[in-house]
Amino acid sequence: MTAKIIDGKAIALQVRENVKKEVAKRVAAGKPKPGLATVLVGERVDSSTYVRMKQKACADLGMNSFHRPLPIDATQEEVEGLVKELNADPAVNGILVQLPLPDHLDEEKVLQAIDLEKDVDGFHPINIGRLAQKGREPLFVPCTPYGTIYLLKQAGVELSGANAVVLGRSNIVGMPAALLLVKENATVTIVHSRTKNIEDVVRNADIIIAAIGMPEFVRGDWVKPGAAIIDVGINQKDDPTRKRGYRLVGDVHYDEAAEVAGHITPVPGGVGPMTIAMLMANTLRAAEIQQD
Ligand code: GUN
Repeated sequence: MTAKIIDGKAIALQVRENVKKEVAKRVAAGKPKPGLATVLVGERVDSSTYVRMKQKACADLGMNSFHRPLPIDATQEEVEGLVKELNADPAVNGILVQLPLPDHLDEEKVLQAIDLEKDVDGFHPINIGRLAQKGREPLFVPCTPYGTIYLLKQAGVELSGANAVVLGRSNIVGMPAALLLVKENATVTIVHSRTKNIEDVVRNADIIIAAIGMPEFVRGDWVKPGAAIIDVGINQKDDPTRKRGYRLVGDVHYDEAAEVAGHITPVPGGVGPMTIAMLMANTLRAAEIQQD
């Protein structure tokens, strides 16, 4: 193996420790604890797990969390009404509406209802619009892409002038990651289901961000020697040797790619822990914007 492993777990821990220290300083100075509201519509198992992890992170870092579950058949008016109530609550500095929402709800309208200063997920159309424009800065950057870029910087990977290939164009990861890389002066190509000769496009990449949700899709012989790989995928792969019958793999074939790449993130323990760490950093910043 040639690649250096980018240890997302350790880097996320550092981010969390810094946030924890800053929160303690604020509380010692008589300021209120930062507070994050989590809105979960329905009871999807994966979403419920993520929300619980976010609440636990708040507790670990000395912040308040306010969980506001709604039933799966909540109406548009009910969801937007709850967001407005949270906008008006001074104890709530950040509002996180867990996605995906049930199909009958208009996601864009819900996200648009969030106060810009409380948009710790960075999904408000104005924050995303600013991310896409030259010379403009969003108040908050979406957490997974933010964590992705943070890992590359911590690993000392040069972004300016690099050829970056992002696999996937989702609103949550692929597209904002591509926009962030452009802001960092990378030359960015987005690869998706209609792209021709994906392998050849990837072979040209100095930086590969894989976020398509397809297990071990990127093979070792697609990787340019020395490239940096951030694997955002988390997929279950059958593995009868494991007690639970499966193991987690990324969107990149790790063993093959690690032979060629310069840097690579493992799955699990790569990008995953960064998402929550960056959410905590965004929530602290929201409190600073609102209280200082
Ligand atoms: N669903 C999957 N990832 C995310 C995220 O980062 N934020 C929210 N709100 N929902 C998600």
